[in-house]
Amino acid sequence: TGLTTYDPGFASTSSCRSDITYLNGEAGILRYRGYPIEQLAKSSNFLEVSYLLIFGELPTQSELDYFEQQITIHTLLHEDMRQFFDAFPKSAHPMAILSAATAGLSTFYQDHYDPKDERDVEVSIYRLMAKMPTIAAWSYKKSIGQAFIYPWNKLSYPANFLHMMFGVKAEPYEVDPEIAKALDLLYILHADHEQNASTTAVRLVGSTQVNMFAAIASGINALWGPLHGGANQAVLEMLAEIRDADGDTASFVARAKDKNDPFRLMGFGHRVYKNYDPRATIIKETADKVLRKLAPNDPLFEIAQELEEAALSDDYFIEKKLYPNVDFYSGLIYKALGLPTEMFTVMFAIGRLPGWIAQWKEMMSDPDTRIGRPRQIYTGAATREYVEIENR
Ligand code: CMC
Repeated sequence: TGLTTYDPGFASTSSCRSDITYLNGEAGILRYRGYPIEQLAKSSNFLEVSYLLIFGELPTQSELDYFEQQITIHTLLHEDMRQFFDAFPKSAHPMAILSAATAGLSTFYQDHYDPKDERDVEVSIYRLMAKMPTIAAWSYKKSIGQAFIYPWNKLSYPANFLHMMFGVKAEPYEVDPEIAKALDLLYILHADHEQNASTTAVRLVGSTQVNMFAAIASGINALWGPLHGGANQAVLEMLAEIRDADGDTASFVARAKDKNDPFRLMGFGHRVYKNYDPRATIIKETADKVLRKLAPNDPLFEIAQELEEAALSDDYFIEKKLYPNVDFYSGLIYKALGLPTEMFTVMFAIGRLPGWIAQWKEMMSDPDTRIGRPRQIYTGAATREYVEIENR
């Protein structure tokens, strides 16, 4: 009909129906499949939450055992993938490697990635869940010039990742269970967040009926940006900048308010939350615990708390309802765990993976799904006559 709605950033468009995540931004509520995030953070673990998101219900013990076993047996990358890492420069950002390698994985499974075949979908889920931490850890090893460490499948999901990241020989790196638990918790808190930019990218690309690896690779690229998952890296860089400016938080708050200055407080504000992000509440508590143990003298935690306090008592931030989001304190924990800043967004990607998979699966099975194809309001030139190049 030509009748369309102009809605930049899709701020008031519901692009799908979904049973997966409930988010009430005014009240600061987040639930996966009906379960409050606080309960899952306290009592569940990442693989159980992944199962819940992907299959819709909490697993029985035998369902969970099978799920874990299937993920465990797929953790190895095809040996030919090693050369893939060699081709990148040493300074390659690990998010670039992660997305390229995830799309690249598809080349090894071309006969088994039909998005409409139930068995293909199931095995693709295991492969993605299993191999992403291996790719992530190897991208880091590449950047520091160390040998790749193969997965040690007796370890838990987060411990295996830490082993591949920080181990330097075949035996398992001695993983502190508390650290593995903190990492697992961060994964849970990142596991889904309804129709954010990366999930929307996965759904949109997936709506073309491409294979799941390609759709998820698009999500990884969308997550990379500093306004989305890349904010966790940007927060740490900002806190270090404040430290180097002698801890002058006030001037940074002033800059964030200045409309002529493009600077924003990274880790603050959210499209949907107009209240404290419930994930940030849990992450702040965890940061407090982890940092007390691992990095008691990190000045950045104090700076972060000061910055939060300054912003939350400032009229600009109060009026615009800008609160700390999930990315504000997560980077401090990753840093305390020994992860380099460039890896922070990769950690977000590992955590968000089950959400992307669940949303892709839901999109594929929804009879209302059509190829994503928004309209536009054309504002360009009216018809004009072509002019030969010598006459321009
Ligand atoms: N610092 C200063 N001012 C801000 C900030 C901020 N962090 N965030 C929003 N504002 C202002 C913004 O300038 C605008 O003011 P005005 O109405 O006068 O033009 C108002 O608040 C509304 O902001 P918006 O940019 O229209 O909101 P949005 O929904 O389009 O963007 C956002 C949301 C998260 C991109 C934005 O708040 C932002 O850039 N935050 C910093 C980056 C960040 O922390 N991103 C992580 C998001 S949470 C998890 C994730 O996705 O990774």
